[in-house]
Amino acid sequence: MNDFYVTAPGEVAPPVPRGPMLCDGRDMRIVHNAFLWGYQQAPVLVRDVAPGDTARSAFVGRWLGDLDATLHVHHEGEDQLLWDKLEQRAPACALHVGQMRAQHAQVQEFLRQAAPMLVAWTRTADPDIGEALATAYEELLGVLSTHLRREVVEVVPVAEKVVSQQEWEQLAEHGLGAIPRSRLMPQLGMLLASTPAQERPGFVEGMPRPVRVMYRLFGRRQFEKQYRLLFPGQPVPRTP
Ligand SMILES: [Fe+2]
Repeated sequence: MNDFYVTAPGEVAPPVPRGPMLCDGRDMRIVHNAFLWGYQQAPVLVRDVAPGDTARSAFVGRWLGDLDATLHVHHEGEDQLLWDKLEQRAPACALHVGQMRAQHAQVQEFLRQAAPMLVAWTRTADPDIGEALATAYEELLGVLSTHLRREVVEVVPVAEKVVSQQEWEQLAEHGLGAIPRSRLMPQLGMLLASTPAQERPGFVEGMPRPVRVMYRLFGRRQFEKQYRLLFPGQPVPRTP
């Protein structure tokens, strides 16, 4: 299977500073996989809602709004906690960090434009608004497919050399602090379900213990219920 996280023709990664690895950035690709998976589902879920079926559009719209909100939190954490450190400690990476900042702004603009469409479609299940919304999500996926890939390929290897493990973990802590538990638990299930089996144990061990316990106590059930409602008739992926 081809790895998605590779350099495309014409792209140039910044030099990676010498020295030992200070943090383990593998969790970034796991988080990015979950967003890519979510936004691959988004246009299909929207187009599958029958015109006027507002019960279904309310449910799907809530799921999409949660996905958008969590993407925003993820980018906000990097904006606040990562870019300045990289620019200061690895100046040769500054150009790439500038590209990451610009791509975040582009994603933010997509989310800003999609937000009123999402609200209107959620309330009405209007098929024309739904089609515009599905198209907007396709365009957003196009931008994310480049941004999330390039961040892993070009920026994470530099971060692993100049950012301490404690500083790296602040990114996850930012997300855990900003995402309400009701949203976090089913999204964690989605993340675990979209993670290749061989990468799961390391990720689960790295999760804060209270989050692990909450997921086992009630999070998995919330995820499974949500998944059944989102994808009726499909087998629910097993999560640890
Ligand atoms: Fe990221």
